[in-house]
Amino acid sequence: GSVWVRGGTVVNADRQEKADVLCVDGAIAAVGPDVAALVPAGAQVIDASGQFVMPGGIDPHTHMQLPFMGTVTADDFYTGTAAALAGGTTSIIDFVIPDPQEPLLDAYRKWRGWAEKSAADYSFHVAVTWWSDSVHADMGTLVREEGINSFKHFMAYKNAIMCDDETLVNSFKRALELGAMPTVHAENGELVYLLQQEVAKMGITGPEGHPLARPPMVEAEAANRAIAIAGVLGVPIYVVHVSCTEAAQAIAAARARGQRVYGEVLAGHLVIDESVYRDPDFAKAAAHVMSPPFRAKGHQESLWQGLQSGQLHTTATDHCTFCAAQKAMGRDNFAKIPNGTGGVEERLAVIWDAGVNTGRLTPSEFVAITSANTAKLFNIYPRKGLVGVGADADLVVWDPAATHTLSVKTQHSKGDYNIFEGRTVQGMPSHTISQGVVAYAQGDLRAEKGKGRYIKRPAFGPNFDAVQRRAATLQPTAVVR
Ligand code: URP
Ligand code: ZN
Ligand code: ZN
Ligand code: ZN
Repeated sequence: GSVWVRGGTVVNADRQEKADVLCVDGAIAAVGPDVAALVPAGAQVIDASGQFVMPGGIDPHTHMQLPFMGTVTADDFYTGTAAALAGGTTSIIDFVIPDPQEPLLDAYRKWRGWAEKSAADYSFHVAVTWWSDSVHADMGTLVREEGINSFKHFMAYKNAIMCDDETLVNSFKRALELGAMPTVHAENGELVYLLQQEVAKMGITGPEGHPLARPPMVEAEAANRAIAIAGVLGVPIYVVHVSCTEAAQAIAAARARGQRVYGEVLAGHLVIDESVYRDPDFAKAAAHVMSPPFRAKGHQESLWQGLQSGQLHTTATDHCTFCAAQKAMGRDNFAKIPNGTGGVEERLAVIWDAGVNTGRLTPSEFVAITSANTAKLFNIYPRKGLVGVGADADLVVWDPAATHTLSVKTQHSKGDYNIFEGRTVQGMPSHTISQGVVAYAQGDLRAEKGKGRYIKRPAFGPNFDAVQRRAATLQPTAVVR
């Protein structure tokens, strides 16, 4: 089939132009001021006048169907990717998280099975939660045969999936020899463990204890440590969900020394602050329990500045929804509240509204931080992250005039809470095109179970030549400012 997206303004990370986009058989066949002569008979036509046509969002951090903290997230790979499509996101990178002692390849195959019901394209980071010769070997198999080019390390969650320094060092070194990107959840898990007990001793058992046990320095320490280890070994590093000024500064300082460090920011951390944990309604406060926690307002400005200046590179959601009944597992002890929130459907609208409408970001910078930079850093560019001939026909047609009030009542996620509840945003998708097929049109979600494909991501070359080359083209650079 084919789709002719007519009369819109095409926005890429490096330019913006009035152009039609023609999608044929899942790929972009033409981009230009007049593609009419090329349009096959019977093509579907979308009128994009007055709208932006952008690469579909890529969310590099989601957890669908994740078994975590004694329960399993509410969205599976079908409902989660369907929600993504409704919000203009056409690809996710989720996480395979083996239990300690579980062979990486076993976990990988399990997650591949769970993800077969995805409605949108997906791939995986694989977590390294323990170390052995077999983990060393499995990392090689995953990179060489399975299209995995990034490995995740949880520096928090003691007595569960936390990595010690021995594992970090060994895994980073292995990632370097394979040409794969190490990534970290940066929080000092020993400190969190201690502080959780101290906060409880003070008599604080509710969700307001959660941020007290995970202050910014806990995140900054881990970010600095991971960055230092990567720097000594000479491997690039990507820090997930950077939430605070101190961690952003750790990244900026390392980059100023010439180190290849990349940072991800969650939509939630850009607009939600820690006051949510003081809500007297347990369910509302607990719904916001995720790690790192929402921070005092001042941190938000650091995150925006990082994205604007190019010191931070990607945006994600860490979509990891738990319902009220699951959050209630931590009724008497905040440390037992399953950690995670949603957002995969709202990310683009929230960042457009709080970023582009306020003048913090240009539309091109928006594309960079919601799609193109992720495609470059995880080596799927220009197949993804670009509106260009030959790229996958994954597009979002964006109506900058449409307004919408975000709410659990209208979301597609199976979560029973929306962290952006009541926020009115201007700018939302009118259409989402995935693999050249209209998956969402003006409120009508046509997500198809099993239509999503597993996307292999090739390793970077020895010494990360590809990262170095692509990093030089990372947006935002000085597009306008
Ligand atoms: O609280 C969170 N973020 N839950 C998901 C797992 C993780 O740490 O990313
Ligand atoms: Zn080795
Ligand atoms: Zn995390
Ligand atoms: Zn996560």
